[in-house]
Amino acid sequence: MSKWLMSGLIAAACLFGVYLLVAALPEKEEAADRSPDFVVPERAVDADASMQIYQSLCISCHGDRLQGAVGPELAHVGSAMTKEQLYKTIKEGRRGMPAFEKRLTEDELATIATWLAAQQ
Ligand code: HEC
Repeated sequence: MSKWLMSGLIAAACLFGVYLLVAALPEKEEAADRSPDFVVPERAVDADASMQIYQSLCISCHGDRLQGAVGPELAHVGSAMTKEQLYKTIKEGRRGMPAFEKRLTEDELATIATWLAAQQ
């Protein structure tokens, strides 16, 4: 095999390697976003307990049918956010959304996050 063909092949292989590296990077970041390091424990949807929390703490901003008011509608939030994202948003708040860390226990946070995740 000629020297030129050989070095051409090696150069092409290197370029391909760099391409793979670059192409794979954003995918890795996305995967990290979708699987945060904490997981809300699996549990059954408890609509009664969730409605109680919702009615006392959330209804004023998100409406009596999750239709939204000051806050955005939540009727389909389960198709846009994961249970973990819901948990985190409710716990820590976000801009106009208050944090409920001090008003809800971890158990209550998991209950309402599971219920909202089921609102597709
Ligand atoms: C004082 C008004 C207010 C109260 C009370 C409130 N929220 Fe919110 N909520 C907001 C606002 C405003 C946003 C939008 C925040 C933003 O723009 O980032 C929001 C956003 C959210 C989101 C993200 C929705 C999305 O589509 O991004 C969820 C989930 C949520 N609230 C759940 C709740 C739950 C559950 C409660 C009760 C425990 C609650 N909120 C109580 C005002 C409120």
